[in-house]
Amino acid sequence: MTFDTITEDRPLRAVIAGAGFIGRQWATELRLHPDVELVGWADVDTDKMPGLYGSVTEMLDTLRPDFLVNGTVPGAHHEVTLAALDRGVSVLSEKPMAVTFEEGAAMVAAADRARRLFMVSQNRRYLPGLVAYRRTVAELGELAILASEFYIPYKTVKFLDDLPHPLIQDMAIHLFDAARAISGTDPLSVYCESFRPAASWYTGACSATAIFEMTGGLRYVFSGSWSAPGLQTSWTGSWRAIGARGTAVWDGDATIRAEGVLPVELEKDVHAGSGRFQGLAWALREFVDALRTGRPPQGEGRDNLASLAMVTSALESAIRGERITSHLYAAD
Ligand SMILES: NC(=O)c1ccc[n+]([C@@H]2O[C@H](COP(=O)([O-])OP(=O)(O)OC[C@H]3O[C@@H](n4cnc5c(N)ncnc54)[C@H](O)[C@@H]3O)[C@@H](O)[C@H]2O)c1
Repeated sequence: MTFDTITEDRPLRAVIAGAGFIGRQWATELRLHPDVELVGWADVDTDKMPGLYGSVTEMLDTLRPDFLVNGTVPGAHHEVTLAALDRGVSVLSEKPMAVTFEEGAAMVAAADRARRLFMVSQNRRYLPGLVAYRRTVAELGELAILASEFYIPYKTVKFLDDLPHPLIQDMAIHLFDAARAISGTDPLSVYCESFRPAASWYTGACSATAIFEMTGGLRYVFSGSWSAPGLQTSWTGSWRAIGARGTAVWDGDATIRAEGVLPVELEKDVHAGSGRFQGLAWALREFVDALRTGRPPQGEGRDNLASLAMVTSALESAIRGERITSHLYAAD
């Protein structure tokens, strides 16, 4: 990955695609960042708010910004990101990068061709709890098992209703990417079942269990549901890691417990109570820093393909009822 840096002594000019929930959170962050100027905003639904461009390409051609934040629905990520990269505009995208692995690989290739930065914001990576848990797990020695549970009764976003596997296709990337960050491993293969509990309010398969074989022989076991009334987990799941020297558990929030090693203490969350959405400020900071210095950020497109591969391979496994080699290697 090589991308050109921007060294002119002026704020970076940013635009947003998507004026829904997350687009508005990004607008707050772009306005607060001292090295960024928000110059335009587009949504196919121009009734969302006044002053929107109705077309991303028209906005890009008119404003010629330095970067675009892609906060559109997952099905539009590919088209919107390629429109920006093909015009020499860097992209900070919402997860998941794309719907299919092939789309994701094409986006990474487009970024390479254009020598532009393409990063997917995996905002959970910056949470003090995840950072401390990752450092605790690093003390456990060789890891054998990593497990996470995600159980939330959620029903508010319209586009989730349109997905045949809403948990795997939209949310699971947060947990899968966190598993890679916590363990420092990449996916080799997966067996996944994605299903719909009879009492679910979704029409799609909103619950899943997946067993990943990761590099180094680690097994990562994910289980979760969007239709899970009562005793919900944190939005970052609840975790257990078992290594040669002991075990560490994390509630996905502020509590880490361990036996065999000492749990690392959490740093203070400087944005707690501010109403700002978790981790976006840190992702933006890392993205801007990368554009200014050339330092590769977490979530850089090529690296994030391994997280996308966990989603697309799990989905293929669920559909075919078979263990699947990770798409990351199938594409080589
Ligand atoms: N990182 C997080 O924790 C987090 C939280 C919520 C959502 N998200 C992600 O953000 C994305 C958007 O989610 P949301 O909850 O804001 O959805 P949303 O439905 O509230 O907003 C999406 C917006 O995109 C617009 N849009 C669709 N296609 C477009 C196109 N081609 N060009 C321009 N605009 C287009 C829609 O009209 C809508 O206004 C999803 O990928 C979702 O997974 C991430």
